[in-house]
Amino acid sequence: MIDVPVVMLNVKAYRESMGASGMELARACERVAESTGVSVAICPQQTELALICREVEIPVLAQHAEAFEAGAHTGYVVLEAVKEAGAAGTLVNHSEHRMTVADIEAVVSRAKELGLCTVVCTSSVATSRACAVFEPDFIAVEPPELIGTGIPVSKAEPEVVRRSVEAVKEISPGTRVLCGAGISTGEDVRAALELGAEGVLLASGVVKAERPEEVLLSLAKGAV
Ligand code: G3P
Repeated sequence: MIDVPVVMLNVKAYRESMGASGMELARACERVAESTGVSVAICPQQTELALICREVEIPVLAQHAEAFEAGAHTGYVVLEAVKEAGAAGTLVNHSEHRMTVADIEAVVSRAKELGLCTVVCTSSVATSRACAVFEPDFIAVEPPELIGTGIPVSKAEPEVVRRSVEAVKEISPGTRVLCGAGISTGEDVRAALELGAEGVLLASGVVKAERPEEVLLSLAKGAV
């Protein structure tokens, strides 16, 4: 349901991605997807999920969803609500929102039942291999020490990306591998694809940019 190569933007909880600014980022992603033909997906702030799903045609994913079913839980986002919002799927186990192994398995398997796509975030080759057994749609390997630094994983830790792709494909050939952390240019995207990744997951390089749409355009061109 999400074409590759994909540029996937996680807008996190930055001030620059709330409310109207979050909507503008989503529209910029859509314009770039339309003008380049490259798959661009967005993970809006949870409060904007349903609204952005209604407004844009590109894949929209939640930033997190709980393992438990809809019911008497307060202040949580469940998979059923993600689906109802119109989202394509959810990030799982992001470095800034870690989950237990049991919960990762539960979210991936319940998401499959609901027809939602999962992007499981991992920190290393070993954790990528471990999560591959759950056969998610995507694994996004992101060394935490590079997140938000502007130092691209595809250049600083190419072996982590290359070996994660190998490890994941051995266990779950259908799972696509993305890489993230420090990605901010088309060249970083190209380097990621050369290492066998099928896209990138990124945040600050776009959200904190003075002209986010220009950065998105350059990222998309790196994927062509
Ligand atoms: O989810 C994306 C991520 O954690 C990478 O963040 O700011 O280094 O692109 P950033």
